[in-house]
Amino acid sequence: MTELPELQAAAVAAAGAAADLEELDEVRVRFTGKRSPLAELQQGMRDLSPDERKARGQQLNAFKAAFAAAYDARHAELASAALRARLETERLDLTLPPRRVPVGRPHLLTQVEQEMLDVFVGLGFAVAEGPEVESGTYNFDLLNIEPDHPARQEMDTIYVSREDDVVLRTHTSPVQARVMTTQEPPIAVVCPGRVFRADSVDATHSPVFTQIEGLVVAEGITMAHLRGTLLTFARRLFGEDRQIRMRPSFFPFTEPSAEIDVTYEKHPSGWLEILGSGMVDPNVLTACGIDPLRYSGFAFGIGVERVAMLRHGVTDIRDLFDSDVRFLTTF
Ligand code: DAH
Repeated sequence: MTELPELQAAAVAAAGAAADLEELDEVRVRFTGKRSPLAELQQGMRDLSPDERKARGQQLNAFKAAFAAAYDARHAELASAALRARLETERLDLTLPPRRVPVGRPHLLTQVEQEMLDVFVGLGFAVAEGPEVESGTYNFDLLNIEPDHPARQEMDTIYVSREDDVVLRTHTSPVQARVMTTQEPPIAVVCPGRVFRADSVDATHSPVFTQIEGLVVAEGITMAHLRGTLLTFARRLFGEDRQIRMRPSFFPFTEPSAEIDVTYEKHPSGWLEILGSGMVDPNVLTACGIDPLRYSGFAFGIGVERVAMLRHGVTDIRDLFDSDVRFLTTF
């Protein structure tokens, strides 16, 4: 009988001192489980007199109630501590910047090339392409550029094989010749592509750059068609209030030839050259198997880098080739 209050005090103290839920459960088993002093005392009840049994019963109930209270209180404490600890470790810092998923986009040059092609496709042009490694026949001969013509040197041709007369095309004009030798008029094509010249690199020169060639051949084509087409192009790309002007020029494959300027406030003259053009030289038509007495045509060649730089205020052509994403992602 006497040991029960001590046992109760010990059990309550042990419950209160349990360091975690696991230890608390051990305490419960130790003091109240099947082989605990409590169980022994309960079994011993059988041997007691009715009066003793009643008194012992009350003490045992008091023990159980006291232990249950101590157990519940400690359980609540430990459970909320465990929850707090878990919240702490799983905490999310909502002020952290999000990890951005980088989204790709077409290169500025590709964007501008597509915009330019869209204008011509809208006017009814088809898109044609030709090889970058080209024969001298298409790059020069069929275009009326004779072997000793200064244009061959001026273009700083990169030869793949001088013996076999294979070059990296110096312009997209050979695609004109390829189209004319394989298609019947009426023809209206634009030919985008990379071209190559043995130029050293500076802010306005690159040994690799991009051109879009245009060619229209049909009956009754005049310079008015050329002007209308290129005026439409200039306005779509640079704004409806742009003016263009045509200046006489020379290219071996066109006669007459014209350089086309667009109005440009930033230049002292107020004009900027954007492309070369002209009426396809009858020699070129003949060389490509088209009857110059029946058909006439116009052609033009536009530098894509130039247009991209103008439209987007890029002052150094190298920015277009450096692949610096800090630059490229601004477009
Ligand atoms: N091929 C010329 C160049 O690379 C550009 C050019 C001028 C193309 C006049 C043409 C043209 O089709 O008619 O400088």
